[in-house]
Amino acid sequence: MRIGIAFDLKSDQTARAGGPDDLLEEYDSEETVEALAAALRERGHAPLLLGGGRGFVERVLANPPDLVFTIAEGSGSRSREAHVPAVCEMLRIPCTHSDPLTLAVTLDKAAAKKLVAADGVATPRFTVVEDEDSAARLEFELPAIVKPNQEGSSMGVRLTSRVRTLEELRRETLRVVRDYGEPALVEEYVSGTEMTIGILGTGKDARVIGAMEIAPRIAKPEEFVYSLEVKRDWERQVEYHVPPRVPPATLRAAEHCALAAYRALGCRDIARVDVRLDARGTPKFLEANPLPGMNPRTGDLCILSTRSGLGYVDLVDRIVVSALSRQARRT
Ligand SMILES: Nc1ncnc2c1ncn2[C@@H]1O[C@H](COP(=O)(O)OP(=O)(O)OP(=O)(O)O)[C@@H](O)[C@H]1O
Ligand SMILES: [Mg+2]
Repeated sequence: MRIGIAFDLKSDQTARAGGPDDLLEEYDSEETVEALAAALRERGHAPLLLGGGRGFVERVLANPPDLVFTIAEGSGSRSREAHVPAVCEMLRIPCTHSDPLTLAVTLDKAAAKKLVAADGVATPRFTVVEDEDSAARLEFELPAIVKPNQEGSSMGVRLTSRVRTLEELRRETLRVVRDYGEPALVEEYVSGTEMTIGILGTGKDARVIGAMEIAPRIAKPEEFVYSLEVKRDWERQVEYHVPPRVPPATLRAAEHCALAAYRALGCRDIARVDVRLDARGTPKFLEANPLPGMNPRTGDLCILSTRSGLGYVDLVDRIVVSALSRQARRT
């Protein structure tokens, strides 16, 4: 099968001069695209490199593949991850991963939290603020976490993002709004074990493939933030445990929470859902990543999948098979 890979390389982007150093954090490396192409080749497919943006549109029109495998982050708005699947939908070319609506709604963390909460999934209390004065109107107690409302890969989530005073809250809100040009999500800080959960499939066929605990090596667990600084230095600052070191009933509850959120958001084929336990041990939904990083060495989904017994090539293959079976069923 001819499978086109849609991607946006970090090396092709230009960061805004004077902006923070993580503006390009979401974009992919040549290593990731090569690994994906090699995995597809290993399963007998012919990968085509389609890139992203205008180049993607031109190449897909000139030479439409049988399926598009997207890892393209897009640019410019909270709908950026939806651009490639929207073009595919318009041209009636099958595409992996979630549909444009789900990709847009999950990138907007507040919108995703409202949707999962409406389906009864527990998520930390939150408010969206656009200026530093809104801090005074907070309806829950500090500590809180302040993060850009519509980014991923820990963009804008720093060691300073966990705030304990109104002064820190104002400072972090101002930083997010100024540096990322978007509202800040201020969320109740939940201090228990952090887990990220991989889910494969669509609708009633969706299944957990594995769960991974992210535990700090250096920070105190109850103050831990899996921040940009930590992610960039993950080999030294965190350890991963598959399965998580929590009681079986807690793990089941966390997986149930992730799966319920996956379904509430309408995710398809694959996603990685972040969950954290509160002080009482109840799992709370933090966010869903329906376009999870696919670097076989550093991607959290790839690490958790491999450690759960599903190797990289099989993971890629299962995503393709899930997308094709949807096509056959037209879901
Ligand atoms: N409400 C919260 N309570 C405690 N910790 C939180 C909370 N929200 C975020 N964090 C911490 O900050 C990290 C990054 O937050 P989040 O997962 O929302 O951002 P992201 O950039 O979208 O992540 P990803 O890299 O998974 O795309 C989390 O992994 C967690 O450690
Ligand atoms: Mg996350």
